[in-house]
This record gives sequence, structure tokens and C-alpha cells, in this order.
Amino acid sequence: MDKEVVWFIRLSIIYFVTGSLLGVMFAFNPGMADAGHVAMHVHLNLIGWMSMMIFGVGYHILPRFSGKPLYSRPLSIVQFWMANVGLVGMTAGWGMLAHEGTGQMVLAVFGAVMFLSILLFAFNLLKTVSGP
Ligand code: HEM
Ligand code: HEM
Repeated sequence: MDKEVVWFIRLSIIYFVTGSLLGVMFAFNPGMADAGHVAMHVHLNLIGWMSMMIFGVGYHILPRFSGKPLYSRPLSIVQFWMANVGLVGMTAGWGMLAHEGTGQMVLAVFGAVMFLSILLFAFNLLKTVSGP
């Protein structure tokens, strides 16, 4: 497996453990489940665990299923960094919102980085499966 695929899988498992731990903490301490912390939990699990796993497995499997090489490996490496920087930044933004009431701009900027990474993933895989 390519290095970035292995790292997508490793990090998705770390996000899963972190995101779920936050869920257990809510169950023990419901007062902690404010909007900022719930959004953190939701996105660590749904972007961090589910989407990052799908990014990694998608880059590995879809070219093999379709019998076509990945359109651009460099683009997938850029996407790897943007997705992880985006998610960690979004998490920090929600943390700031929860604790200091600031961080909306941090959330917006890193959310946009995350969104761009989703566009890169979509472009790369669509070019791959529809390629020659
Ligand atoms: C040990 C594992 C988990 C525990 C104990 C847990 C616990 C919780 C709790 C207590 C809440 C409610 C927070 C509130 O008061 O609003 C919550 C919300 C949520 N959790 Fe988890 N969670 C876990 C794993 C996951 C996973 C793996 C996912 C997704 C893949 C997930 C997705 C969500 C979502 C989407 C919400 C928000 C629902 C809404 O919009 O109200 N959780 N979780
Ligand atoms: C560029 C990527 C994304 C950005 C910037 C983003 C941003 C946001 C924001 C700002 C909220 C409102 C949080 C609040 O204050 O209550 C939200 C809620 C939510 N998002 Fe996302 N999101 C993204 C991707 C996703 C994805 C991929 C999923 C699922 C696979 C998802 C699932 C949810 C859910 C379930 C909620 C409701 C959470 C709650 O109950 O508080 N988001 N998102």
C-alpha cells in the first residue's frame, strides 16, 4: 500500500478513538455536550474516522476495481495534508468556540480547507474511474 494510504488508515483509527472517547465523556458528563464539543465529536467520527478511512481505502481499491491507475498520486498526497490540516483546524476552532467563545474564523478557514480537499478527492477519483 502507498504510504499516504497507510497514513489515512492510521490517522482514521486515531480519530475514531479520540472521537468515541469524547462520546463516552459526554455520557459520563452530559454538561460537557455543548454545541462546540458535540460538533467536534461528530466530525472527528464522521470526517476523521469514516471519511478518512474511505479516502485511504478509496485511493487503494478504486483504481484496482476499475483496472485504471490513480489519475494523480501527487494530488492525493496534497489532499491527504489538506484533509488532516482541515479537520484538526476545524476541531481547534470548535474547541475555541466551546472554551473561549472565539474561533469562528478558525473554523471557517479550516472548514474551507477541508472542503477543498473533498473537491480534490472527488476530482481525482472521478478522473480515475472515467479514465482510459
Ligand atoms: C463509544 C462511542 C460513542 C459514544 C459513547 C457516543 C456518544 C454520544 C453522545 C452521548 C451524543 C449526544 C451528545 C448530546 O448530548 O447532544 C452523541 C452524539 C452524536 N454522535 Fe456519538 N458516540 C459514539 C460514537 C459515535 C460514532 C462512531 C459516530 C459516527 C460515526 C457518532 C456520531 C454522532 C452524531 C452524528 C451525534 C450528534 C447527533 C445529533 O445531531 O444530535 N458517535 N454521541
Ligand atoms: C468541509 C467539511 C465540513 C464542514 C466545514 C462542516 C461544518 C459543520 C458545522 C459548522 C456544523 C454546525 C455545528 C454546530 O455549531 O452545531 C456542522 C454540523 C454537522 N455536520 Fe458537518 N461539516 C463538514 C462535513 C461534514 C460531513 C462530511 C459530515 C458527515 C459525514 C458532517 C456531519 C454533520 C452533522 C451530523 C452535523 C450536526 C451535528 C450536531 O448535531 O451538532 N459534516 N458541520
